[in-house]
Amino acid sequence: MKLSGKDLLGLKELSAEEIRYILYQAEIMKQILVQDAKKTPHLQGRTVVTLFYENSTRTRLSFELASKYMSANAANITASGSSVAKGESLIDTARTLDVMGTDVIVIRHQMSGAPHLIAQHVKAAVVNAGDGMNEHPTQALLDMLTMKEKKGRIEGLKVAIVGDVAHSRVARSNIYGLNKMGAEVVLGGPATLMPRDIESLGVTAYEDVDKAIKGADVVMCLRLQKERQQSGLLPSMREYSKFFGVDTKRLRLAKEDALIMHPGPVNRGIELCTDAINLDRAVIDEQVTNGVAVRMAVLNILAKRGN
Ligand code: CP
Repeated sequence: MKLSGKDLLGLKELSAEEIRYILYQAEIMKQILVQDAKKTPHLQGRTVVTLFYENSTRTRLSFELASKYMSANAANITASGSSVAKGESLIDTARTLDVMGTDVIVIRHQMSGAPHLIAQHVKAAVVNAGDGMNEHPTQALLDMLTMKEKKGRIEGLKVAIVGDVAHSRVARSNIYGLNKMGAEVVLGGPATLMPRDIESLGVTAYEDVDKAIKGADVVMCLRLQKERQQSGLLPSMREYSKFFGVDTKRLRLAKEDALIMHPGPVNRGIELCTDAINLDRAVIDEQVTNGVAVRMAVLNILAKRGN
């Protein structure tokens, strides 16, 4: 099977069958990660460039490691260390990578739609590693892989996504992906951080986080971007934590074996307390590991799409 497009720009564009296919390939790739010698010839001769205009630890490193584990030529460019700092446009930068023979360009950009724009101007496959408030598709794929591993299924799970939904590309990709895979998505968070039309995406939204978490199989906390307080969208951090943060008391409302997830980086004590992070059913580390497997699968599928 192949993906219908040359790029991975978002889960909005993928079918349930395509999502299942990527998750299946990621399960195969995970076998490589548990070996002592993490090296395969899958992408020998192929070139992957990561182009990051925003900070990242997990996403950038996991794409780089995924490329290297599969023997690709891997290079990284950041905005501050490239000709972007001299005023080169996004399209010209992407075309420069393209004519150097890059097979896959992985891009993170603060502007929603930036990956979609460059995808129209390059032959290389483009992977969205997070664009503004739009999507972060490989994050949602690794989240779904973690749910599938831990719960044995995605269909029928109740997933509570809690926090700053309005500014979260992670939330948006998970909503698209989980809906397609047959999960029930419930959102919880302050009204000022909840998009007005969000229920049109097939989810239920509550300002009362307790209502969102009640009976959940998975509680996914979102990172609070602290600058939202300056913009007047939030009360104090202390109040945010009290009313919308997830702690062990609030978690008692979820199912006893509910998974606790967070895309990272975590603001400990604000959106999620350390006691909750330390529970056995907190799977934040497993999410990070699965990020490498998912990115290996995505790179392998897209770099070889012409074969
Ligand atoms: N979850 C996530 O995207 O983390 P990074 O910003 O560290 O890549």
